[in-house]
Amino acid sequence: MKHLLKLSDLSREEILSILNLADQLKFERNNGIQKDYLKGKKLGLIFQKASTRTRVSFEVGMYELGGYPLFLSSNDLQIGRGEPVQDTARVLSRYLDGIMIRTFAQKEVEDLAKYGSIPIINGLTDYAHPCQVLADLMTIREYKGSFKGLKMAFVGDGNNMANSLMVGAIKMGMSFAIACPNGYEPDAELMKWAKENGDLTITTNVKEALKDADVVYTDVWASMGQEGEKQKRELAFASYQVNKENLSVSKQDVMIMHCLPAHRGEEITADVFEEHANEIFDEAENRLHAQKAVLIKLLK
Ligand code: CP
Ligand code: NVA
Repeated sequence: MKHLLKLSDLSREEILSILNLADQLKFERNNGIQKDYLKGKKLGLIFQKASTRTRVSFEVGMYELGGYPLFLSSNDLQIGRGEPVQDTARVLSRYLDGIMIRTFAQKEVEDLAKYGSIPIINGLTDYAHPCQVLADLMTIREYKGSFKGLKMAFVGDGNNMANSLMVGAIKMGMSFAIACPNGYEPDAELMKWAKENGDLTITTNVKEALKDADVVYTDVWASMGQEGEKQKRELAFASYQVNKENLSVSKQDVMIMHCLPAHRGEEITADVFEEHANEIFDEAENRLHAQKAVLIKLLK
């Protein structure tokens, strides 16, 4: 594993190996064991979009591993003034040991990897959010023990989260169902792959997706960069909500997940969110452990 650009680049074995290391790092942290796995290593963090969890978990993670994180807002970098990513990649490769980037186009992340000579980590693009899904898989395994036979249902936009979750679920042997309005399906190529490699349901019927689900996931109706479509999306997604009524067809012990930030009253009701707050905030915490595992795999 040279980079983490998207989840589909990783094998099932590579994912499991990251999850196992993440469990170990969580245990060590909870027991006050601190080891400088990445002593002296420097990670650049480029953000072209806002972030709470990704920024803080990467910065804290690097610090806890004995390394040094540099927060690089695109507002302050020359990349924000049009310096080509090819040049940025070659320059930063001379100073840093790795780069995490959050941006719009997946191609920008792929280009960083192509032109640079250090590991690149995708911290969210419009296409994928692999770091989030590694933490999600870690959390599912914590709560459910294993992935075998589980059904994951996603309610909402076929966006970066849905794309990466679909790949992650199918790779780990879960079945995946998504309820989304027509025209808001996940990436066509990824759906084709998922159909060929596992059990995928795509429906406009929320209850069909949620039926017998073990894990239910949702995300905002309008993602970062789609603010201009907010009203159009509120209409399209009005009935695509994780609420008590829709969840009545899911398993009794259903787990509810959200990558956050959440919009209560839109994709999820406040009562469901609060009832499942433990799962949702364990999931957020696990970003730290899963990403530390990724950093060790890539930078050590
Ligand atoms: N889930 C997630 O990536 O959160 P941030 O946008 O706060 O980083
Ligand atoms: N789909 C959301 C995820 C945020 C973590 C977005 O891209 O804004």
